[in-house]
Amino acid sequence: MTVLTVALGGGRDYPIHVGGGLLARAGELLAPLARGGRAVVITQPPIESCYGAAVRDALVGAGLSVRTLAFPNGERSKTLRTVARLYDGLYEARADRRTLIVALGGGVVGDVAGFVAASYLRGLPYVQIPTTLLAMVDSSVGGKTGVDFRNGKNLIGAFHQPRAVLIDTNTLATLPRRDLRSGMAEVVKYGVIRDPDLLDFVTSRVKDLAGLDPAALSHVVGRSCRIKADVVAGDEREETGLRALLNYGHTVGHALEAATRYRRFRHGEAVAIGMVSAACIGEAAGVTPSETRAAVAGALKAQRLPLAVPADVPAASLTGLLSLDKKAENGKARFVLARGIGNVALHGDVCEEDVRAGLALQAREYGGGDAPAPAEGAA
Ligand SMILES: NC(=O)c1ccc[n+]([C@@H]2O[C@H](COP(=O)([O-])OP(=O)(O)OC[C@H]3O[C@@H](n4cnc5c(N)ncnc54)[C@H](O)[C@@H]3O)[C@@H](O)[C@H]2O)c1
Repeated sequence: MTVLTVALGGGRDYPIHVGGGLLARAGELLAPLARGGRAVVITQPPIESCYGAAVRDALVGAGLSVRTLAFPNGERSKTLRTVARLYDGLYEARADRRTLIVALGGGVVGDVAGFVAASYLRGLPYVQIPTTLLAMVDSSVGGKTGVDFRNGKNLIGAFHQPRAVLIDTNTLATLPRRDLRSGMAEVVKYGVIRDPDLLDFVTSRVKDLAGLDPAALSHVVGRSCRIKADVVAGDEREETGLRALLNYGHTVGHALEAATRYRRFRHGEAVAIGMVSAACIGEAAGVTPSETRAAVAGALKAQRLPLAVPADVPAASLTGLLSLDKKAENGKARFVLARGIGNVALHGDVCEEDVRAGLALQAREYGGGDAPAPAEGAA
């Protein structure tokens, strides 16, 4: 097991435990955080059926009383309605301020359960047990919680840091391949923003990673978490611009998810396309060298991730949505752009012509034939 620390200071540091088989140690590692002796596991049915019993047994074995609340799968469940149902569950379970919320699942579970923990009784302690690669390397660390609202992504939420993150890489064995690839998009992102060696590793060890080689997986998960933890510790509430760098690829990615009503793409797939958009827009703006653009696209292609905005999503609908993104300032979309691999910066002044020229470059270079399967839930 590797233990990393998110160094927030002020007594709020928390550990990220990474290793194979750690669910069995959930009692030992997490039960001390449930000071009232009670835990409520928030999860979704497929995860509950694979891992619910292991987590429950471990927590009960450590002396906790445990309730489980499950809500339906998919991004479409990331709503205030789901949150209200979970509040009902907590009320019926007589949860109090010392009840530990355990978020067991992917990014949707983590964001929803984290927001419930942030808001019920003005804040309960919670821990993350991420079970998708995306949640392991990204959403479980950093304390951003929330739900979607009126076709806007994560518009309602709160910063609420977990007390611990427990990553059992063995849980990836049951994850659909499509979700595994989707998570690799975020690993590629860390390589682009901070770590050329990680980008090389992901690009050259595709087979090992796809085959769930434990050492290769532990390496990319640990390295990604280290980068995320350092960035979060340096700019917890996205105030200095450092944490905003984690949004590389997310400006167009989020717009694409909204334009396709959160049904067509996995989050990581949309971010993969968005990273290529950012590279092309950066090139159009004279910031990103073409070899950097090619390296970004090459790493994503190696992971069999989509590179192009599908032809049936008009550029106009994307550029319209960009101004609705939370990160837009004065109607202009902000972009994180790469000067090179491992060297990115936030640009608040990208003009609309460069956005259009970049999207046109992306369509020319990468368009045609690589749009992912349309249905949510497809493996
Ligand atoms: N808070 C943050 O900082 C942050 C960062 C990135 C993404 N996100 C959010 O994360 C969400 C996407 O997360 P995701 O990609 O993990 O999707 P997800 O949570 O919807 O999980 C994908 C699917 O895999 C299933 N699943 C999860 N773990 C499994 C396992 N081990 N075996 C079998 N099936 C499993 C889930 O039930 C779901 O059907 C988005 O809502 C995004 O906004 C949040």
